[in-house]
Amino acid sequence: MEFRCELVRTVDDSYDIEIGRKLESKLVSDLKNGLLGKRKRLAVITDSNVKELYAGSITAMLTEAGFSAEMFVIPAGEKSKTREMKEFLEDSMLEKGFRRDCAVVAVGGGVVTDLAGFTAGTFGRGVPFVNYATTLLAAADASVGGKTAVDTPLATNLIGMFNQPKKVYIDIECWKTLPKRELSSGLAETVKHACLGDEEMFSYLEEHIAEILENKAEPCEYIAEKNCGIKYSVVMKDERESGLREILNLGHTVGRAIETCSDYRLLHGEAVSIGLVAQARLGQELGFISKENVGRLERLLQNAGLPIRVPGYIQIPELLKKLYTDKKVRDSRLRFVFQKEIGDVMQFSENNYGRPVSESEIAAVLEKIAE
Ligand SMILES: NC(=O)c1ccc[n+]([C@@H]2O[C@H](COP(=O)([O-])OP(=O)(O)OC[C@H]3O[C@@H](n4cnc5c(N)ncnc54)[C@H](O)[C@@H]3O)[C@@H](O)[C@H]2O)c1
Repeated sequence: MEFRCELVRTVDDSYDIEIGRKLESKLVSDLKNGLLGKRKRLAVITDSNVKELYAGSITAMLTEAGFSAEMFVIPAGEKSKTREMKEFLEDSMLEKGFRRDCAVVAVGGGVVTDLAGFTAGTFGRGVPFVNYATTLLAAADASVGGKTAVDTPLATNLIGMFNQPKKVYIDIECWKTLPKRELSSGLAETVKHACLGDEEMFSYLEEHIAEILENKAEPCEYIAEKNCGIKYSVVMKDERESGLREILNLGHTVGRAIETCSDYRLLHGEAVSIGLVAQARLGQELGFISKENVGRLERLLQNAGLPIRVPGYIQIPELLKKLYTDKKVRDSRLRFVFQKEIGDVMQFSENNYGRPVSESEIAAVLEKIAE
């Protein structure tokens, strides 16, 4: 005998992204107004830096508003984005009596939103979560789009799930307390968005990069909106990365490998910056981008305070091996996304944005851009 389980689902995972300044009270009022239904038990997940700056006061405000909110703190930094730290959060939450009727409020940068979103996705088989992004990198990329993950010793982001938040808050005011290096790191994903989707934005960045680094209001608001607009125009068409979403991977084939090989001495955005240069240099050789535009890209990244060379402490053979942990690898062959001049990407066939690249092709480029 055979039974068929009819489990066809229609899912509406739509949600709002609110961009503004000092959004703490908006978060609390949204929760009071039922953003997460009737849930009263809230796990505020944050890191050791953001705890003092924002998460502590958010937790206090939630408690004052009648929620049963508790803070769970991980040590700041990429090295906390692990399965072990997820287990630590889960065990701490269980110990404090959190069960399926709770919800998660992630307050922090991309490490916190990636880890908290994944934790929420499996805790009690899934509880809802919201992201309160406090870094430019989280605002530009990590907190929006629904990809959540942890790193493994082999490579970054290998274990995770698609899990969409109920709402994302992008608090530009928080960028004021960000160390300059972190602000620059976030700019790498911003430059990436301009490279793949908006030439005008690229020119704007060329003109206003110094003001962004000084945290001037208007250009910061401009990039916050543009980043979300570009990322969402892609994610809405291809949430599960069956084709188009791969373009958001621009610069990440080499970037992710360098990030792991540096043992996280390089920040995510710094590694992506070098990865952007690598795909552009290779793209130039393949006729996808002019020498002049490669030069513009390298100058912009440098002016944003980002590295454009593979650091001397990274061995190229080790880096080449690491490239094979990339999710775009097919049949053991490396595949790269390439920008088409500035503001567009190369498409190689229907719904295919990745081009096979031989190890010797990319090795030659990496040798040239090594310190
Ligand atoms: N899910 C995705 O689609 C996606 C996309 C891009 C990047 N990512 C991930 O994002 C992570 C990087 O994000 P990140 O750069 O935000 O890292 P992060 O969360 O480690 O934050 C960077 C540092 O800034 C501190 N910090 C955070 N907000 C602050 C503030 N307002 N003021 C002062 N200090 C503050 C943090 O404590 C940390 O030390 C990586 O793990 C990367 O893989 C995910």
